Amino acid sequence: MDISITGASIPGRGAVAVGVAKDGKLSPAAKALDDKTDGAIRQVIRSSRFNGASGQTAMIQAPRGTRLDRILLLGIGDPKSLTQIDLEAIGGRAYSQLAGSGSKQVKVVIDAENMGAKTRLSRGQVQAHIALGAKLASYRFDKYHTKLKDEDKPSLESVAIGARAAASARDAFEKLSAVGDGVFLTRDLVSEPPNILFPASLADRCQELTALGVKVEVLGEAQMKKLGMGALLGVGQGSERESRLVVMQWNGATKKEKPVAFIGKGVTFDTGGISLKPAAGMEDMKWDMGGSAAVIGTMAALAGRQAKVNAVGVVGLVENMPDGNAQRPGDVVTSMSGQTIEVLNTDAEGRLVLCDALWYTQDRFKPEFMINLATLTGAIIIALGDEYAGMFSNNDKLSERLSAAGEAVGEKLWRFPLHKNYDKKLKSEIADMRNIGNARGAGSITAAQFLQRFVNDVPWAHLDIAGVTWSGASKPTSPKGGTGFGVRVLDELVRRHYEG
Ligand code: BES
Ligand code: MN
Ligand code: ZN
Repeated sequence: MDISITGASIPGRGAVAVGVAKDGKLSPAAKALDDKTDGAIRQVIRSSRFNGASGQTAMIQAPRGTRLDRILLLGIGDPKSLTQIDLEAIGGRAYSQLAGSGSKQVKVVIDAENMGAKTRLSRGQVQAHIALGAKLASYRFDKYHTKLKDEDKPSLESVAIGARAAASARDAFEKLSAVGDGVFLTRDLVSEPPNILFPASLADRCQELTALGVKVEVLGEAQMKKLGMGALLGVGQGSERESRLVVMQWNGATKKEKPVAFIGKGVTFDTGGISLKPAAGMEDMKWDMGGSAAVIGTMAALAGRQAKVNAVGVVGLVENMPDGNAQRPGDVVTSMSGQTIEVLNTDAEGRLVLCDALWYTQDRFKPEFMINLATLTGAIIIALGDEYAGMFSNNDKLSERLSAAGEAVGEKLWRFPLHKNYDKKLKSEIADMRNIGNARGAGSITAAQFLQRFVNDVPWAHLDIAGVTWSGASKPTSPKGGTGFGVRVLDELVRRHYEG
């Protein structure tokens, strides 16, 4: 999809999308079109429920007195209080409403007075976020369809965003677009089927980030064995496919700056192992590498926009399969930290992968902070559904920064408690700890407590993204399927606090 920023004039051909504020107040572009069409827009407002409320849309087909295909009216509510999320939703709706309309091109001219005045967005940023919203909404993953007819594909080929401050909007969009590319990469990776995307092939996809200036190292099983990563390796033991650990480094700041570190769970398929999952819905476990995909997408975003930060991304890539060599319930493994783990449920594998990846990261990089992302527990879906991801942290400042960044970009995080009494539930008779709690309840918290045992003094947050990585329903800037959750909040966190 071609998304560009141009001047604010109203075109003569194609489709046009314009804004109507609450109580049917026409924006300048809407007013101009209304005049040209002998009042067609006011007529819609008079004769329908469309009144400019935020989220509403109305379409005028083949408007008389013009050579336009159609005019899309977008309700924008109160222009002054538009947030970046609102603006992205407006851009997203402009795309989605016109994608299959028959129009090949649309120009989106949203030019109400004082847009974003309360939310302190510049004129350039306002238009750039509309452009980003259109881009995010245009995502498709259809590479495995060989029989799509033309009418099954979008007719829309280009979206032009009309901006009076076109140059500054373009500058802002260039950065945002790089973040959008990171989101797309994450969506692509979680969408790939598990016979195509497995540890080695996912590591190959990481290697492609070298084109953006990211340094990429891939560790195989022999190297991980030398490092003592018995917990991670135990998970991959029942798979024909070798495990990998990938280390990505983006050095956008001076050498003396400590890196920030992102760590991802990359279980390319989670059958549960010998503690086998039920058949129904097991196909969802192709996206059990969503944490790693978010880390990879974040590294692409930071490099793509040349962020002035040193960032490390570490992803543990394994396939959790049951076979004659698979890990058994009752096995005891030794992690890189030296701590031993009794594996009582082979389906609680994500924490086993992460504990070695976390230890390795803090040991090697001495980072400013560590944030790990993982589709770790079904219990977090029970608690939060697909609205918020769960957050666990040993550090108030880091978690407050994460919450605020997430709120701003629409990737919301809800903090859960950690407490030594939960930690006690990990006591094992035979080893330093067990990999599941010893009682029912608090499954997401005991998983987080497990991870915390592998974190020393460094500020750390664990994001349980099991409920938000995949969506069964389309949202304004996220078609159903992989959401790309994680990239935007991490990028925003870095942008706000860790650059320059
Ligand atoms: N990958 C799953 C968690 C999950 C479940 C993610 C559903 C997305 C949707 C994880 O590896 C897992 O199986 N967790 C178990 C832990 C349990 C055995 C303690 C769970 O949540 O049931
Ligand atoms: Mn599992
Ligand atoms: Zn899993």
